[in-house]
Amino acid sequence: MSGRSGDADFIWGLATAAQQTESRNGRGRSNWDVWSDTPGKILDGSTTERLTEFDTRYPEDLDIMASAGVRHLRLSLSWPRIQPEGPGKPSEAGLDHYARLFDAMQARGIEPWVTLWHWDSPVWAGDFVDRDKAWRIADYAACVAARFNDRISNWMVMNEPNTVATRGYGAAFDPPGHGSIPKAARAIHHLNLAIGLMATATRANVNGRARVGTVHNCARAYPANANPFNRLTARFMDDVWNWAFLDPLFGRDYPVTLRPLLYGAVKSGDMKIIAAPLDFLGVNFYASLYFRMIPRKPFIELGGWPDSMEKCGLFPVDPEGFEDILTTVHDRYRTPIYVTETGFDVELAEAWQDRVRDPDRTRHYDSYFAALARARARGADVRGVFCWGATDNWEWSEGFTHRLGLIAVDAQTQKREGKDSLFKLDGQIARHFGPNGA
Ligand code: FCB
Repeated sequence: MSGRSGDADFIWGLATAAQQTESRNGRGRSNWDVWSDTPGKILDGSTTERLTEFDTRYPEDLDIMASAGVRHLRLSLSWPRIQPEGPGKPSEAGLDHYARLFDAMQARGIEPWVTLWHWDSPVWAGDFVDRDKAWRIADYAACVAARFNDRISNWMVMNEPNTVATRGYGAAFDPPGHGSIPKAARAIHHLNLAIGLMATATRANVNGRARVGTVHNCARAYPANANPFNRLTARFMDDVWNWAFLDPLFGRDYPVTLRPLLYGAVKSGDMKIIAAPLDFLGVNFYASLYFRMIPRKPFIELGGWPDSMEKCGLFPVDPEGFEDILTTVHDRYRTPIYVTETGFDVELAEAWQDRVRDPDRTRHYDSYFAALARARARGADVRGVFCWGATDNWEWSEGFTHRLGLIAVDAQTQKREGKDSLFKLDGQIARHFGPNGA
């Protein structure tokens, strides 16, 4: 039994996203298709053509999850599958695909938690420098919510707008690859507008019991060292990364330091649209961020984590940072929180056995669950946790070079197997959030 763990309200599950797992079959062309088809954009040269074929192999993945006691799966829908050619009337085939997937989940006792936008846009929809994209994506949200209003209880309108704005607009690491601070400023405001419009459009189309939230990557920003330029950079990035998105969502104005940059895009009535009510905030956390200034574009570089933190692939292991961000977000906004992603990139080895025997992942989850329990004991209203990722998958511009999954997938042969850590999660959660709560 999972998602119970003695504490009726605390749930656990896994998390995944369409553009990291589905193949291109049966959907329109996406911004990430264009990007990955451009030579030099993806670290290992992989493209979005097949990925882990979740669109056809989901029965097998869901069977493995169910056998490990997974009762909740956060997953995103592909906008290019639902509106492949243009706005308005959605593709019935696209919607039917997800109806079958939800059937398969519910037949196995797995509750779908739906993210409407986890970064994949149909090419026709353009990018977020264009204000109108906020209305296009809200129209997509309305179509999906209208179709699935009776069967989805938890909606998340958007995943990590801050990652999109910084990596794709401020820098040129991800699509659309602008590498421009003025364009990033416009994108930040238009992504916020999109969240507000999508939340309103979703709520207008679902029944009153459904809950509507959104997901943010929350992490405090610190200087890589005591250099005064790095300190300024970290203060600036703390505002950009966290508060430029969360403050307006909760009815506040943009951080003072960013107003000169952001106000150019703001029109009368926008801040009210952005502050549409939300039932919960999804917090994704991997590690606190450390920054330094560099003398070339994009002028700010991520890196310089303290040596005391254990290294682990993409990010170090930072339970103190996790406890800190959960209590900080709670103190600032007093909103119900779900941790909608956290995970570890432990396997550098290629051998299959080394990928599925993963004691370090279990050890790191233990330290993060303990941190989460401490944050709850300090008052943070955290109601559940989703582990990233359900399977090993395509890590965006990093291709297949990182493996954070609880289920191992060989992207060549499509072989899958649950990792040891997957089968330990239910017991771990019960120990940390057991009969008397945290
Ligand atoms: C998060 C993304 C998710 C995944 C993890 C590792 O920022 O939301 O899609 O790539 O990082």
